[in-house]
Amino acid sequence: MKILANDGIAQSGIKALEKSGFEVITVTVAQEQLESYINENKIDGLLVRSATKVRKELIDQCPSLKLIGRGGVGMDNIDVDYAREKGLHVINTPAASSASVAELVFAHFFGGVRYLHDANRNMPLEGDSKFRQLKKSYAGGTELRGKTLGVIGFGRIGKATAKLAIGVGMKVIYHDPLIEKVTLEVPFFDGRSMAFNFQSLSMAEVLKASDFITLHVPAQKGYVIAQKEFGLMKQGVAIVNAARGGVLDEVALVDALETGKVAFAGLDVYESEPSPEIRILMHPKISLTPHIGAATGEAQSRIGSELAEQIISLLK
Ligand SMILES: NC(=O)c1ccc[n+]([C@@H]2O[C@H](COP(=O)([O-])OP(=O)(O)OC[C@H]3O[C@@H](n4cnc5c(N)ncnc54)[C@H](O)[C@@H]3O)[C@@H](O)[C@H]2O)c1
Repeated sequence: MKILANDGIAQSGIKALEKSGFEVITVTVAQEQLESYINENKIDGLLVRSATKVRKELIDQCPSLKLIGRGGVGMDNIDVDYAREKGLHVINTPAASSASVAELVFAHFFGGVRYLHDANRNMPLEGDSKFRQLKKSYAGGTELRGKTLGVIGFGRIGKATAKLAIGVGMKVIYHDPLIEKVTLEVPFFDGRSMAFNFQSLSMAEVLKASDFITLHVPAQKGYVIAQKEFGLMKQGVAIVNAARGGVLDEVALVDALETGKVAFAGLDVYESEPSPEIRILMHPKISLTPHIGAATGEAQSRIGSELAEQIISLLK
């Protein structure tokens, strides 16, 4: 059987699949040529990340397809219900990248409180001529320890982020309409662990009480954070969006940064991805990454192995 990993797959996944007799093809076929490539090569399984789109038309035109796999979480690039109606298996690896996304959130927070995003822009330009001025302008840093982190969306990544926050010494509060109460077991390096109990607060309570806010909700119709929500936040709050572009209103964000309501923001995802607005890219108070939340060796390796396990059990 042939598996086309159109957006790539980790070596761990290739090895496991080949060991079970699958042929794994890792070329990247352009979206408009995908239909003919799949048909000419009689591809049984199509693996994608977020780049390749698997819409109704492709599913209809490719009768050899038995399985569509998404390495990662969000499946907004796949017509999942339609594919399942047509009898295809549609799989993903929801848990494999949570810890990596959580660490990226903290990279943005740790960087932001010490102005690293801006210092890294200005040190190469003026570090030798204006060292003292730069030292002064980046001197008002803060610590994360002792501050309150508000987590909007307390699913897999929200919880992984909360665990890191506890390790850092932050107080964690959350809002999630579907998870009323939860006990989080936080593991330490030596095998010990400690349990912490949480209870969902209202959105307004979380927005009002948080020094730092992080979004971990799925893509949805409207914004989760827009002008009204910024209005409820503390003066000088920081916010990170590593969930999906479109859950955070970027125009309202820029306004809130200009007024000082928001001290800094960290963005891994963008409303107009893959061409984020220049106003966002050039903003000195935004720490930017190009949708790399799950892009660690560890997460990709877990994703590859999890995909392979599922494919082997479904298609063998
Ligand atoms: N940056 C990246 O590279 C990257 C990588 C993986 C996942 N993600 C994104 O992270 C997000 C979260 O993923 P996850 O695995 O934790 O999902 P999950 O399904 O485990 O958790 C999402 C939670 O959000 C809650 N929720 C939904 N709407 C809400 C709202 N309006 N307010 C508050 N809570 C709400 C749900 O009840 C659920 O508990 C997804 O959007 C996913 O696409 C990003």
